[in-house]
Amino acid sequence: MAESGQVAVIVPAAGRGERLGPGAPKALRFLDGSPMLLHAVRALAASRLVDHIVVAAPPEDVEGVRGIVGHLEGVQLSVVSGGETRQESVARALIGLGPEVDVVLVHDAARPLVPVELVDAVIAAVRSGAAAVVPGLPLTDTVKTVDDSAGGPPRVSGTPDRATLRAIQTPQGFRRETLRNAHAMVDPDDPVHTDDAGLVERLGVEVVVIPGHEEAFKVTRPIDLVFAEAVLARRRSSDGRS
Ligand code: CTP
Ligand code: MG
Repeated sequence: MAESGQVAVIVPAAGRGERLGPGAPKALRFLDGSPMLLHAVRALAASRLVDHIVVAAPPEDVEGVRGIVGHLEGVQLSVVSGGETRQESVARALIGLGPEVDVVLVHDAARPLVPVELVDAVIAAVRSGAAAVVPGLPLTDTVKTVDDSAGGPPRVSGTPDRATLRAIQTPQGFRRETLRNAHAMVDPDDPVHTDDAGLVERLGVEVVVIPGHEEAFKVTRPIDLVFAEAVLARRRSSDGRS
């Protein structure tokens, strides 16, 4: 792989945030005075290895999102209209990437506190030869499979060995061609994938797991906003700013 290629990060931000409860689209809700999306894009732009950021915005908020992220410096920013599913939002952002880009990351706007060290580690792993890279953390809960076909409460059907499981985060990193091929092969009859590595796995491409980071957690439910505000408060106090 040519070392001179550029790095782009696609930021799917077009979700409604239904599990967070009523309100604006999740990426536009505020954390410590700024939209979640702005935290996420700033964290990505802080990486000296990132050249382009493409945000997939809620279709009705494309101009609003341009206003939120458009002033960031040191990186080329573009905003596209997102789709009905996360997979479609990523596919729309991917279309516009030029041949100068050889590494593509995909990072959820809903993971606004991702440390720049994790962004850099994912890029480094792709640069050192992996076609697909995901950050993962060991699980703390025991996970069970369930069968709810009998009606009533679901019944446990199995307990996978926790040591073989990882909770997968973003940014996920790919050689551009790998991610393009994976999206090009999507079968409209298949269930929609909730991450990009899932599509790449279907191609038979090996996906490498690197250590994730606790602060790259996804804001999904209201309690996650409490965690996110607490992490930001801790960062401020360790910066000596509070
Ligand atoms: N996403 C997207 N386009 C969609 C759906 C989701 O770009 N049609 C993005 C979200 O904005 C988020 C990321 O994908 O940054 C991860 O999705 P998720 O956490 O499920 O966010 P939402 O879909 O917004 O939340 P919910 O499922 O609770 O509605
Ligand atoms: Mg969703």
